[in-house]
Amino acid sequence: MLIAGNWKMFKGPGETDAFLGAFEPPAGVEVAVCPPFVSLAAAVASGRTVYAQNVHWEPEGAYTGEVSAGMLLELGVHGALVGHSERRQLFGETDETVARRARAALEAGLRVIACVGETLEQRASGDTDLVLTIQVEAIAFAVGEHERLVLAYEPVWAIGTGKSATPEQAQAAHAFIKRLLDRPVLYGGSVKPENAADLLGLASVDGALVGGASLEPDTFGAICRAAASSS
Ligand code: PGA
Repeated sequence: MLIAGNWKMFKGPGETDAFLGAFEPPAGVEVAVCPPFVSLAAAVASGRTVYAQNVHWEPEGAYTGEVSAGMLLELGVHGALVGHSERRQLFGETDETVARRARAALEAGLRVIACVGETLEQRASGDTDLVLTIQVEAIAFAVGEHERLVLAYEPVWAIGTGKSATPEQAQAAHAFIKRLLDRPVLYGGSVKPENAADLLGLASVDGALVGGASLEPDTFGAICRAAASSS
């Protein structure tokens, strides 16, 4: 069971120090935090497992605003998210660039959490399975069942909306994704202490990618404890 806290564009180095000083993960669950780039060093210094929120596919070059896998490894970072829906929707990330980022990160030695998920319109028009197939197969084609790869199912309509997938919707999507690529699948989208046990207790849910509720040690700790008791 892996619980990863995606801090998005929250918490500079000072707040990162303060959070990790106040947060003690429970035994029996793997916990990772994903701070902004500028806070990675502070997070690594805490001794916790740390993922970046993105990673470029080239080792270096004229790519303003990007960071490579080798640079993250030099800093002591353990892994990277790729393909978060905010990257896909707001920053032009495509299935092809997600696959390239995943492949470069895994080849360099990082762990990867690759995010997939449908929008509300896609679900409403009955295209969820089609969208998941296209997104997962792009990753599968690039890296296969890599041992350091984990997927995250994050229905876009559930991210930051307070409206999580129902356990039935999550179970169905996770089982479908695992048939396409046999790797652990985290659930993401409005995970909070109140729904964590129900979602994490599902057979095909191997952990959570938590946004808003990972920003406070109390709520993140409660989710991590729910994971520890359902693993
Ligand atoms: P949320 O975000 O938990 O705030 O819905 C999840 C994510 O974006 O990874």
